[in-house]
Amino acid sequence: MKYMSAAGNRRIEKPGTLILRAARIAPRLKWPFIGAVGIAILATFIRLLGPLFVRGGIDDGISQGDKNVILVAAALWTGALLIQYVLNAASQWSIAYVGEQYLVSLRSTVFQRLLHLDMGFYSRSKSGVLVSRMTSDIESLQEFASDGAVMALSNFLTVLGVAVALVLVDWQMAVAVFAVVAVLLVVSVVFQRQARRAYDLVRERIGSVLATLQEGITGVRVVQAFTQEGPQASTFGRVNERHYEANMQVARAIAWYFPLVSFLRVVALAAALGIGSMRVIDGTLSVGTLVAFLLYLDWFFQPIINLSQVYNLLQSALAALAKLFTLVDEPVIIGEREGAYDLPTPVEGAIDLDHVGFSYIDGVPVLDDINISAGSGERIAIVGETGSGKSTIAKLIVRFYDPSSGAVRIDGHDLADVTARSRAESLSLIPQDSFLFSGSLRDNLVYADPDASDDEVWSVLETMGIDEWVRSLPDGLDTEVRERGGRFSAGERQLVALARAFLADPAVIVLDEATSNLDPETEVAVESALRALLADRTSIVIAHRLRSAERADRVVMIADGKIIAKGTHEELSVSSPQYKELVDVWKVGLA
Ligand SMILES: Nc1ncnc2c1ncn2[C@@H]1O[C@H](COP(=O)(O)OP(=O)(O)O)[C@@H](O)[C@H]1O
Ligand SMILES: [Mg+2]
Repeated sequence: MKYMSAAGNRRIEKPGTLILRAARIAPRLKWPFIGAVGIAILATFIRLLGPLFVRGGIDDGISQGDKNVILVAAALWTGALLIQYVLNAASQWSIAYVGEQYLVSLRSTVFQRLLHLDMGFYSRSKSGVLVSRMTSDIESLQEFASDGAVMALSNFLTVLGVAVALVLVDWQMAVAVFAVVAVLLVVSVVFQRQARRAYDLVRERIGSVLATLQEGITGVRVVQAFTQEGPQASTFGRVNERHYEANMQVARAIAWYFPLVSFLRVVALAAALGIGSMRVIDGTLSVGTLVAFLLYLDWFFQPIINLSQVYNLLQSALAALAKLFTLVDEPVIIGEREGAYDLPTPVEGAIDLDHVGFSYIDGVPVLDDINISAGSGERIAIVGETGSGKSTIAKLIVRFYDPSSGAVRIDGHDLADVTARSRAESLSLIPQDSFLFSGSLRDNLVYADPDASDDEVWSVLETMGIDEWVRSLPDGLDTEVRERGGRFSAGERQLVALARAFLADPAVIVLDEATSNLDPETEVAVESALRALLADRTSIVIAHRLRSAERADRVVMIADGKIIAKGTHEELSVSSPQYKELVDVWKVGLA
């Protein structure tokens, strides 16, 4: 059975497949799950004993005039109720335990998966969608785990148990009752469909109400400046009206369904009472059995209604699961190859791009036949206009992507053959705006090497000439970095990133316009820190200013994904008209 998710037209997997798939996320919960279901079954069973005590009390007590039997039946029922209370508590707790534990596993499975997915995946997906997977999808699962699961299981077991009990107590009356229940089921399915459509509509339209409201309020100056209060109000009026209509659809569905269910319940009770009373008079049914039957019957309807409501929760939980699994099943393209090995140490850091071609999207080449060699300790500057492919080269050097053709090598080893750990230890990319994690400044500095001592950290800070700056912070190394480094300026964040790279001590540093976002106060500090960082390392510097190009051993100029000139700054200043033009632009920028 294929069916549509509550969210829209996306086809999702069969519930069965999905549930089996879901079970594989947390095999450790198998026995707790079985235990929780077992307790729920036991609780339902004990509950179903109640009417049997009543039957005994009536048939063997009241009818025979034996008060003792009544007392015993009452005592047994009370005992059963106490056991039932304990079991219900245990069942609620254990189902919640399994549900919440499951979500813990699911969240970390998805998160770990996200951390391993390659940059190709991240450039394809919107981060908003990813965050919504982690929040709203997991939230609908959460909702199901905390309310839905207990409701679904206990009501399902009750319906099942009562149906069996009805047949066992008296199958002839049971048949009459099931005819009414069949009508109830059909009616419930119809209601379900109608209500779901109406609720979807409400959700959609409340969205436009809020959007229109917000737009009107934030844009109120413009509205007033152009005296558009009238038209604005009537736009809102239309949206408001549509929202009202959607809500009334819900109200109409509820208005016919619930009274009809009450009606059917009474019809079933009346049918059972009628048939049963006749049979009591005929002597084919005891009064006790009739009362027990009616008691069971009374328990039959509410769970069916509850189930039809919990069905919605179940639907969105399944849809959410299906969406999360598409994430978990996302293939990792830049994984570690079979037989990947660590680079032989010491890593010299010679970088070689050998006839490299690359496209993000098939058929749209971004790089074509790029050949760049950087010997150990050399500094290469890459220059070119925006969009020419410089950042792409930087990303290929640290293997965010694999080249579509050709190879990127370090010390002669193809990057694709090297383990991820060894690659990460040998190559660092510092982008324009570095990311800091929440935590202390120290945590951020020792990110690559959590065992680094404070002495090591300070000696690096001194070498880079930024120890004074750190000392001037309110708590020194313990200064809290707020979310995304919010307390630091862009330049200060970059200082931290450079020191972090220094502590990680890679053989190769790739700087992608790392100094383009600086405020004048930190510029000098960053320049000197950078000098210390780059000394004795191979560096590929994507340059956006004259100074970086002048300092490089060689300059590579890119245009439209191709190398158009290679040589020292002095050579290119003479030989390449394009380079001369770029240098002139830079010089104007300096003036
Ligand atoms: N993730 C991506 N998906 C598709 N195209 C991309 C992606 N990143 C960059 N590009 C395209 O590749 C080309 C080179 O981009 P980039 O390497 O960032 O240039 P530069 O750093 O020189 O400004 C541009 O045309 C850009 O639009
Ligand atoms: Mg770029």
